[in-house]
Amino acid sequence: MYNSKIIGLGKYLPDNIVTNSDLEKIMETSDAWIEERTGIKERRHISKGSNDSTSSMGVEASKIAIERAGISARDIDLILFATLSPDYYFPGSGVLVQDALNIPDCPAMDIRMQCSGFVYAVATADQFIKTGMYKNILVIGSEFHSGGLDMTTRGRNISVIFGDGAGAVVMTRAENESVGVLSSQLHSEGKYAKELSLIGPSTGRWVPEIMKENDPEDISYYPYMNGQFVFKNAVVRFTQVINAGLEKVGWKPNEIDMLIPHQANLRIAQFVQKKFGLGDNQVYNNIQRYGNTTAASIPIALTEAWEQGKINPGSKVVLAAFGSGFTWGSIMIQW
Ligand code: UT7
Repeated sequence: MYNSKIIGLGKYLPDNIVTNSDLEKIMETSDAWIEERTGIKERRHISKGSNDSTSSMGVEASKIAIERAGISARDIDLILFATLSPDYYFPGSGVLVQDALNIPDCPAMDIRMQCSGFVYAVATADQFIKTGMYKNILVIGSEFHSGGLDMTTRGRNISVIFGDGAGAVVMTRAENESVGVLSSQLHSEGKYAKELSLIGPSTGRWVPEIMKENDPEDISYYPYMNGQFVFKNAVVRFTQVINAGLEKVGWKPNEIDMLIPHQANLRIAQFVQKKFGLGDNQVYNNIQRYGNTTAASIPIALTEAWEQGKINPGSKVVLAAFGSGFTWGSIMIQW
């Protein structure tokens, strides 16, 4: 059995910055409301006509992660691509990344676990590395939300939150058992699937059917969120799943060097920070600048924290996520 560890990190954000004031011009909202409820000041949206896509952003983040890992793309044995906004309905975006990176043959798997997607993907990579089946695994989280949001007042409770972007890491075998991923906790609770969902288009709601009806009030092809219900579940599940991880590895909360919570809402992250009595230097947030990028939020934040020298060899790092499904999970990493 091998431990797995992260040896390269990268991120990619589209250039186009959309501020809260920009949103005020197209829907009834305000900078004050968004800032107070979510902490968000601005997010990135892929510009119309740009060549950026879910997979291309993943490729750009991956190139940086692979270079920093000191390997070449051809050394990758497996690609795991976490997203809820794939380029196509099928095939998944992982194979598009494989092609763009000129990797002739390696398995490429999409992980459809929404905001928890990156945590699920790291846990999956860890298992493949533990068994010895694969050595170098490229783990990507990438989202292109902006093209599919209801940017009118009707959709404001959800469209002001989400942003586009990608992050990626390279994972490989750790030299010993005291380093790398020490534990992972994964959960889901499908009875709440519709509380945060995008129902159509789907196999239960094909596009011709939606187009035939052509009902301007049909919002089934926009994301839906029961915001307060999701919020209440999020704070409970974040707390439980971080606690479970701490217990498993025997760390006290004050020993955490860096908690990277999924960037769902700054108020959720602040609640969790307070619950565990963590200082500002023990938690990394960037939702203020990027909004909620679902599966991409943790790898983007992890990359930034590492780039800023906040994660170093020996650091105790905790990743935690909650989101649509509901799904949630945590990963404890001895860096
Ligand atoms: O990443 C996956 C997991 N996601 C989450 O964890 C998100 C969890 N939920 C949340 O973060 C919060 O529920 C939101 C930030 C999405 C919304 O905040 P809220 O305090 O739950 O607002 P609400 O939807 O209950 O709406 C409160 C009021 C309503 O007006 P009335 O009925 O009280 O007059 C809304 O119409 O705020 C209004 N509102 C807005 N006003 C200005 C909703 N969205 C907006 C907006 N701008 N963008």
